[in-house]
Amino acid sequence: MVRLINARQANGDWFDMDIDGGRIVSIKNIHNNLKEQDKSTVPLMSVGDFAALPQGTVVDAGGRTVLPAAIDVHVHSRDPGLTHKEDWHTLARGAWRGGVIAVADMPNTLPATMTRSAVMEKAERARASGLEHAFFLGVGLGNINEIRSLLLDQELPLCGLKVFYGRTTGELLYDDLETLARVLPDHGEKVVVFHSEDQCTIDCNHQRFSRQLTETGNAAFAVHSAIRSSDAAHASTRTIIEWARTTYRRPIHIAHISTAVEVELVAEARARGVPVTCEVAPHHLLFSTADYERLGPLVKMNPPLRSPEEVEALSRLFAQGAIEIFATDHAPHTLAEKYADVAHSPSGVPGVELYYQLLIACSKRFGLSLDRAVAMATSAPANLLGWRHKGRLAPGNDADFVIIGDDEYTIVTQDVVSKCGWTPYAGWHVPCDVLGTWNCGRQVYSRANHETGVS
Ligand code: DOR
Ligand code: ZN
Repeated sequence: MVRLINARQANGDWFDMDIDGGRIVSIKNIHNNLKEQDKSTVPLMSVGDFAALPQGTVVDAGGRTVLPAAIDVHVHSRDPGLTHKEDWHTLARGAWRGGVIAVADMPNTLPATMTRSAVMEKAERARASGLEHAFFLGVGLGNINEIRSLLLDQELPLCGLKVFYGRTTGELLYDDLETLARVLPDHGEKVVVFHSEDQCTIDCNHQRFSRQLTETGNAAFAVHSAIRSSDAAHASTRTIIEWARTTYRRPIHIAHISTAVEVELVAEARARGVPVTCEVAPHHLLFSTADYERLGPLVKMNPPLRSPEEVEALSRLFAQGAIEIFATDHAPHTLAEKYADVAHSPSGVPGVELYYQLLIACSKRFGLSLDRAVAMATSAPANLLGWRHKGRLAPGNDADFVIIGDDEYTIVTQDVVSKCGWTPYAGWHVPCDVLGTWNCGRQVYSRANHETGVS
């Protein structure tokens, strides 16, 4: 057993933690100040693997903030099939750099994650990276009759079903909610996650604004927000929640919510007993349509950016703790792909490598307590995925944690470990950085050595 001392938690209290192998044995809140260091203590930053330390070693966090590591419930690994954008290896390194030790991956890879063999192929690639993972199964006409058996198959690392209720990157689309309710398992813990944008509204808007799609220049990208309008998101989220209330009645989750109206719909439904949660992505809090002029294709994503007023309303609800989960929707594309014209530039931005930095930036900027922000990154995602041994620093759980440095940090392109090699946040000042990440007691990232990888 190894004891970690002089660590601070999100609420500012101090704590000691006993770790054995990769697990937490006990954790104790301490209210006194920094303990005396003696020669036998080892600084936390130089501990590679807790399991390799002699029994009885005391590790000193030196008064640094030590938080549970994050779980990102929304990433696009691109592997298999689109590995010129990203692969499991680069995704793992990016995740660890952002303080993320586990991800839930979306099914729009090539092949799409819709069959047993596609799940197995992706699993093999993911395992080799060392990043903890689970996958969302995709649904379409081709596999609708198999989704029950696939979701109940204990051998497959599936954490739920992803329904693209509106079309986005890739060809996945499914909007027959009646059939879905009939074929989904009525037991088990797996959640159904929705990409919630109404395709009919989008198609109508597309006709209406089609002439503007031929315009050039960064500002022309604003038409993307007009086509995938807030109305499209509201209509779809309303329909999906109503379906969950009247027909499905099991846990559902709305991905990357971009409007305050939807957060309110989710909160109202939950108050009426509907088991629905939602997540927000950093770009929907930190950018608005006013940023197209400067960033153009680099901030084209689905759902798209909203007006500054809508972003302000969303951030107010974020500050009130009304959104359960913070997830990056890490969706890398190469710069060459992004700098196509408005109609052809693919939607999506990378983000996993900046997970904790952006979360804490949002919590400070909008006034959400660090405690609550950390819950959005850790315990709430673990609950969504049904991972009981992760997401909290608690006895019996995996020793997954990060050290957060509280010096201001300027984001640089080199932070992007992703193969895409760009970020819309380059040059941004954030109030902290991740100094080190541990997964099951093993250090997987050290800022001091600019190293990622399993020690
Ligand atoms: O912007 C997005 N990019 N939204 C999505 O729903 C898909 C994603 C991607 O895969 O590129
Ligand atoms: Zn996504």
